[in-house]
Amino acid sequence: MKICVIGTGYVGLVGAAVFADMGNTVVGVDKDKAKIAKVTSGVMPIYELGLDEIVLRNVKNGNLRFTTSTPEGVSQSDVIFICVGTPQDDTGAADLTAVMAVAKEVGQNLNGYKIVVTKSTVPVGTNERVEQVIKENAQAGMDFDVVSNPEFLREGAAIEDMRNTNRTVVGTKSARALNMMRELYKGFNAPFVECDLRSAEMIKYASNALLATKISFINEIGQLCERAGANVQVVAEGVGLDKRIGRAFLNATGVGYGGSCFPKDVAALYKTSTDQAYDFKLLRSVMEVNELQKFNFMKKITKAMGENLSGCTIGVLGLAFKNDTDDIRESGAIKMIRMIRGYGAELRVYDPAAMENTKKVFGHDQIYYANDMYDAIKDVDALCIFTEWGNFKLLDLTKTKQLMKGNLIFDARNLLDQKAVESSGFVYIAVGKRTNGYTEDGDIVSTAILKNGR
Ligand SMILES: NC(=O)c1ccc[n+]([C@@H]2O[C@H](COP(=O)([O-])OP(=O)(O)OC[C@H]3O[C@@H](n4cnc5c(N)ncnc54)[C@H](O)[C@@H]3O)[C@@H](O)[C@H]2O)c1
Repeated sequence: MKICVIGTGYVGLVGAAVFADMGNTVVGVDKDKAKIAKVTSGVMPIYELGLDEIVLRNVKNGNLRFTTSTPEGVSQSDVIFICVGTPQDDTGAADLTAVMAVAKEVGQNLNGYKIVVTKSTVPVGTNERVEQVIKENAQAGMDFDVVSNPEFLREGAAIEDMRNTNRTVVGTKSARALNMMRELYKGFNAPFVECDLRSAEMIKYASNALLATKISFINEIGQLCERAGANVQVVAEGVGLDKRIGRAFLNATGVGYGGSCFPKDVAALYKTSTDQAYDFKLLRSVMEVNELQKFNFMKKITKAMGENLSGCTIGVLGLAFKNDTDDIRESGAIKMIRMIRGYGAELRVYDPAAMENTKKVFGHDQIYYANDMYDAIKDVDALCIFTEWGNFKLLDLTKTKQLMKGNLIFDARNLLDQKAVESSGFVYIAVGKRTNGYTEDGDIVSTAILKNGR
């Protein structure tokens, strides 16, 4: 099939590569000239394991190419995927400016029957607006159909997720478009959910909102565990073995859920509910718990180290919102760094992929960008772990003890082995469980490593 993917970000670039790798002829379009120049020269504009290999192979065999010209991409294709961003606007709603701009351009450049497929996450009713905008901008009599085909990939496992998706959701009122989508996805070997446009749009939001709810739920259980003397990791194992519940998304975290999807999608669904005059109380709590989680973790730091952190240096491992990505959009780590900086501390930070993106946010004020994880902990009073990168689990505790000035470790991901950390002489404070960083009454111990008393 001849496919045009508009928006070559995390979803569009991976989608273009995977569709090309299945033997389709794909053109990736992005208005960002620097991005297109980069990918055309063989350098990936995003960090996604294995992506470069697929892109390069398909560029070489002629299945994949890139352009900044939407007219060129649209006119030469039969199926057009809209993969542009839908960030949160000031009201909490999804900002559809990019989607509607693309719809207009698609309409202006229709030159025969095409299917216009929205992969971007868009609120219920958006595809009907897309259809309207295309119609208004197309020449009279031009035939096209719209399809809602939400994407469920996770950054860091995007290629695997796209190829082995749990389900393909296709919403459309057109039998012709449905058949073409079946043909396109026949190699995916996943359940094919065919439905109306609005249900397809809602499936995406309901999925993300439910996953976010699981995270906020286990974070609340974690709060209770700390107070009641239980261990949230053990509880999650026990609960997760119930097949009706499942183990996924039951990791308590001090930084809450983040990223370019969950926060904005939960907010957008909540906005949809208020627009429909429905008060979605559960979602409101999910968002509130998520914000509180970060403040609660900050409270652990200040309880242990004091309210005035000027003169202290804190090492940070993990900046991306999750492991295996360079994406720091709505990253809990970034929010934590902002708070820690606000309390006056200097920071030494490290992330295997997200350093450049973080420099763009913070610059160098109060922050040293370390060369590796051990460089990040040199002479620091305390260490914070904010992202669950596999390498951080391998931290050599003896070396860490020698390199650090203080002995405090705040593990917002429960990544390290509690016994090993404690027996290496650290005061360990994690999430949803009592450690040697707690008094018998369940309070955080106040340490004596403060600025003047060091
Ligand atoms: N990132 C994810 O993990 C993920 C997963 C599932 C769904 N989604 C959804 O997919 C959509 C895209 O997300 P993303 O993370 O890939 O976004 P992104 O910001 O990484 O990429 C969007 C791209 O669209 C381009 N763009 C914007 N307007 C354009 C225009 N008018 N013409 C051409 N290109 C244009 C931008 O330059 C950018 O490169 C969002 O709606 C998101 O919610 C994202």
